[in-house]
Amino acid sequence: MKNRSLQYEDIFSGDLILVNEEYPLSPWKEDILPESRKRSEKLSFFPWQSHAPSFVAVKEQYPDILLQNKASTVLSHILQDIGGEQEIIPVSGYRSGEEQTKIWEDSIKENGEEFTRKYVALPGHSEHQTGLAIDLGLKKEVIDFIRPDFPYEGICQKFRETAPEYGFIERYERGKESVTKIAHEPWHFRYVGYPHSKIMKERGLSLEEYIEMLKEFPMEEEHYFYGNERGRQAEIFFVPVSQKEKAVLSIPEECLYQISGNNVDGCIITIWRREYV
Ligand code: DAL
Ligand code: ZN
Repeated sequence: MKNRSLQYEDIFSGDLILVNEEYPLSPWKEDILPESRKRSEKLSFFPWQSHAPSFVAVKEQYPDILLQNKASTVLSHILQDIGGEQEIIPVSGYRSGEEQTKIWEDSIKENGEEFTRKYVALPGHSEHQTGLAIDLGLKKEVIDFIRPDFPYEGICQKFRETAPEYGFIERYERGKESVTKIAHEPWHFRYVGYPHSKIMKERGLSLEEYIEMLKEFPMEEEHYFYGNERGRQAEIFFVPVSQKEKAVLSIPEECLYQISGNNVDGCIITIWRREYV
């Protein structure tokens, strides 16, 4: 076994961070972050992270639409696999705080407050600011920037059905509006990583609900197991972390593992094992 300690700052980074009306992106929690990690977005994207993610364009033809490296690679694979590269257009990826503020203010002027609150997250509270979310549109002459068309049929539906196999989820589903506090957005996809995407899809859970569910599987108790058809098994559990309470993890040697904060109160650990060994 090898030990890995989890620090307070670990809560705020990783593929599973929950960014919504209630939980802003961590630079906005300036009062609680250490001085050295305070927001300085102009200097780098994520100055509070010790290993800042790198960003890349999702497609050569759209150099301004960026995602975190891993999310961008996975998105390309999905589009390639379903043959959707020509018909599915990236509309909006990573947004800086300034960009989200401008989108919010412009939308308030053009569409009014009621519409804006439904379809635009408050600056500091948008998943787009993580670089893990992308709006996609069906190729058309005119694509609406805030509400692109991404129908539940054809190539768009194929994307939607395939995405959880790779780590993406449709984030704002119909029927979850009271949980996500955002209207139904068929075009907005969020990278959370596999197998979390698959579990959420199979269990019909929003990210809010999934984060809550995982708290039922703390480190010291029974863990959540997810086996896939390739004979791999993911063991998932939750570790509470707070400013006062750091945690030490014991990870089996020679296992692949991932750690993600939940942006709320702890970290989610995913350990990959071969099944039946
Ligand atoms: N449209 C989504 C909710 C955002 O602005 O982040
Ligand atoms: Zn979006």
